[in-house]
Amino acid sequence: MRKIYSPVTDKNNFFMGKDPIELAGKFGTPLYVYNEKIIREKCRDLKSISTYPHFEVDYSIKANSNLAFIQIVKSEGLLVDAMSPGEIYVALQAGYKPEQIFYICNNVSEDEMQYAIDTGVVISVDSLSQLETYGKINPGGKIAVRFNAGMGAGDNPKITTAGEKTKFGIEKIFVEDVKNIIKKYDLKLIGLNQHIGSLNMNESVFAEGTKMLLEIAMEFPDLEFIDMGGGYGIPYHKEDGENSLNIAAVRESVDKVIFDFVKKYGKEVTFRIEPGRYISAESGMILGKVHSVKTNCGQKYIGCDVGFNVLQRPVMYDSYHGIEIYRPSDKKSEKEENVKIVGNICESGDILAHDRVLPEIFEGDILGVLDAGAYGFSMSSNYNLRLKPAEILLREDGSVALIRERDTLEDMMKGMVSLEDL
Ligand code: LLP
Repeated sequence: MRKIYSPVTDKNNFFMGKDPIELAGKFGTPLYVYNEKIIREKCRDLKSISTYPHFEVDYSIKANSNLAFIQIVKSEGLLVDAMSPGEIYVALQAGYKPEQIFYICNNVSEDEMQYAIDTGVVISVDSLSQLETYGKINPGGKIAVRFNAGMGAGDNPKITTAGEKTKFGIEKIFVEDVKNIIKKYDLKLIGLNQHIGSLNMNESVFAEGTKMLLEIAMEFPDLEFIDMGGGYGIPYHKEDGENSLNIAAVRESVDKVIFDFVKKYGKEVTFRIEPGRYISAESGMILGKVHSVKTNCGQKYIGCDVGFNVLQRPVMYDSYHGIEIYRPSDKKSEKEENVKIVGNICESGDILAHDRVLPEIFEGDILGVLDAGAYGFSMSSNYNLRLKPAEILLREDGSVALIRERDTLEDMMKGMVSLEDL
């Protein structure tokens, strides 16, 4: 095997001595690969984001909902947040107790809410109408409320989830209405939460956003917990020298806000965060295979099997993912080229990487798509009736485990009904 271009995985020892070409050969491509050691390191980083004694980290399952992945996170002592009955269910399967699962729902049916109530998880609602719905079906119940305290911060508008242009949360001006509904249904408001947005690399936004939520918290004297949200970013441009989030700087500012609040509030409430990306993004990558190389109207295209059915982020958010090149053949080239790396989906927008200057790529090369562990597999689809990829785990003990089988054609047909059977 020749590593033609592998600056990031060499540096963080992602493959731990394993050969990505062998992994691709054994498990097939496209293939999601996770590194257990990195998952654990990331969990530990975030547990150190506050020194407050009643501080907890909820892993946000939406970022990566693989069962084995969640079990690793659990063994690191993290709790979880879920966004759907499916995510509640997988958390239970991973061994979480209902009270360790925080269900942050948005615009859900009574049935879904009832499922969460019956399961015994703590629910957060984020509109007055959903608070009413909850009150009607579970009078006297415990509830949390998601506020939009006024500050949003995220990498792009699609993932900025507070502030002026978002469907999420209840605005501060409705605090009295929240109090009235709580009273009307004899509810017990045990928690407040917010999530200002995703992929934040600016260390100061976490404390600033929390400060605004805490102004609202002062209105509710009986809280048991305050959840400050997720959004901890990762450097997607590592090969260009982009640095990781400075956890110590976040800690300094967040600690101050928490300790100041607890003094004022007069009670040691639990503080939580709910990160997804920070834990899973850098611990996962995709191996894909190059099946064609061509030039169209002067543009060189590298055609591989990582379409937007496998990784949606570049198409959905214009996201950047670093690309590495591993070569099974002994082809040689000293050239660098400007290429577009594209998938095998029947749309011109199926572009994994725009205008990348990389060493010359040949048919048969294996590509490594970096930082794909968050919102990668969890946002993948069967579009064009392509089969969802397998997922493997590079374990700390050096073994390799298949943690999700590749879809089969039978899986793809599941639930479809033939007219002949009617
Ligand atoms: N809590 C809530 C209520 C959320 O909505 C989210 C993410 C999180 C926590 C976790 O955020 P994180 O720590 O991962 O930034 N698909 C997009 C990201 C969508 C984020 C949605 N909400 C992407 O691929 O960039």
